[in-house]
Amino acid sequence: MERLTFPESFAWGASTAAYQIEVFKISAIYGGLCVRCVCTKTYNKALPVFLWPGGWDADGKGLNVWDTFTHQGGDRVYKNQTGDVACGSYTLWEEDLKCIKQLGLTHYRFSLSWSRLLPDGTTGFINQKGVDYYNKLIDSLLAMNVTPLVTLYHFDMPQAIEDQGGWNSEKTVEFFEQYAKFCYSTFGDRVKMWITINEPHIVAQLSYEQGLFAPGKSEPGYGAYRSAHNMIKGHAKAWHAYNTHFKEKQKGYVSIALDSDWAEPLDPSSSDDKEACKRYLHFRLHWFANPIFIDGDYPSGMKIKISEKSIEEGLTTSRLPEFTDEEKTMIKGTADFFCLNYYTTRNVKRLSNQSGPSFKSDLEAEGVKDPEWPISGIEWLAVVPWGLRRLLAYIKEQFGDPDIYITENGFAQSDPPLLQDTHRWGYFQETLAEVWKAIRQDGVKVKGYFAWSLLDNFEWTSGYGARFGLFHVDFNQPNLPRTPYFSAFEYAKVVKGNELIYK
Ligand code: BGC
Repeated sequence: MERLTFPESFAWGASTAAYQIEVFKISAIYGGLCVRCVCTKTYNKALPVFLWPGGWDADGKGLNVWDTFTHQGGDRVYKNQTGDVACGSYTLWEEDLKCIKQLGLTHYRFSLSWSRLLPDGTTGFINQKGVDYYNKLIDSLLAMNVTPLVTLYHFDMPQAIEDQGGWNSEKTVEFFEQYAKFCYSTFGDRVKMWITINEPHIVAQLSYEQGLFAPGKSEPGYGAYRSAHNMIKGHAKAWHAYNTHFKEKQKGYVSIALDSDWAEPLDPSSSDDKEACKRYLHFRLHWFANPIFIDGDYPSGMKIKISEKSIEEGLTTSRLPEFTDEEKTMIKGTADFFCLNYYTTRNVKRLSNQSGPSFKSDLEAEGVKDPEWPISGIEWLAVVPWGLRRLLAYIKEQFGDPDIYITENGFAQSDPPLLQDTHRWGYFQETLAEVWKAIRQDGVKVKGYFAWSLLDNFEWTSGYGARFGLFHVDFNQPNLPRTPYFSAFEYAKVVKGNELIYK
């Protein structure tokens, strides 16, 4: 039995995101029929309409891309499920606070719904009820001595902004900066830790390159690079807005949450696989971390590869956009700490001969799971705790030894989940032990760990079929009761003692 003690003031948290837990506008659904938009969707479960009476536009939230995407159906989401109800946190937020209290968390990470605050995405109209909602939440967290870590944008772009191009358009950079300023001025007297964008890599890949996530735009070879380019600029502008206008008075910190797998060469003796492995990390982590943490620009290997491919395709310029010198200066150094979302690891091999322009053909690499690694309740999530330790050491070495917060890490259960999830707690334990080694043995400055997620929630295209919560949510009951899993009880012990008792 080992006692693995974490540093003093270590942040223990859990994370959520607005679209995954709140509620769209339940008042839009009467008698099982959606009356909000033009979709003819009928809802097959008895929805708790009585809990949320009101007109279809009650509480004034504007549509976002996930509202639209899920309402369009088309089997892009498991069982065509939506976030219309989700965990009902817009109404049941006090139940969430009870969960946070039960875990004894020092920090809670959640995201603001941009279109709940600014229904058309611009500051032209402010939805006061949305402001009131987040004020209540923030004030209550602080009253419980829980530090809020607030994400401005977690995949749920206002539809009105998307209609003008979304992240494909440079105009969104400006809209995002205005939105960020609005949030700092509204909540920044109390919120001191901000994340601008959650996982730009996922947005670029799944929303604008492959079209698998809302808004479902598929433009291989172009979409990912263009949207990422605008997200990096949007992030940097939002950081500067804080630094110039708010930092002195509010004394907070701003960062961006980057997701990355750890990668190992499939055949460690193959130079092709070793190179492919390097590219895999460059096209994932360095794509964003180099501009923000190093020099304001994309990694040179990435620039060369995409430029070569573009020339082969007969183009005169690279499909990867370029930053101007002025933009590079503006982007460099725009993060006050490093936020890492880690879920899994891949063995990487070289992959050539992909036809047509695409991110994948530029990458010339493929990540595969090792058959020995256990798979959690969602097929892509192979459980590889040691991968996190290696990734942390790599970040320390590559990006100037920053303070690191692990802003997401977790394991899904498939549906129906087990309340007695001892197996899953085993994964958490192994992972926390690796985090401890990263801190104590490798000298990585890990300042906090946030489990994904506080609650079972709407897991994007997997709907309610993948359960990531520390608390079970019964989506079939009108009052959506939350019940702790075994993992929640065990996590609470770790938080309380600031140590992991590890067999
Ligand atoms: C996202 C979360 C998501 C989690 C598990 C992350 O990519 O930020 O919204 O639920 O992974 O898939």
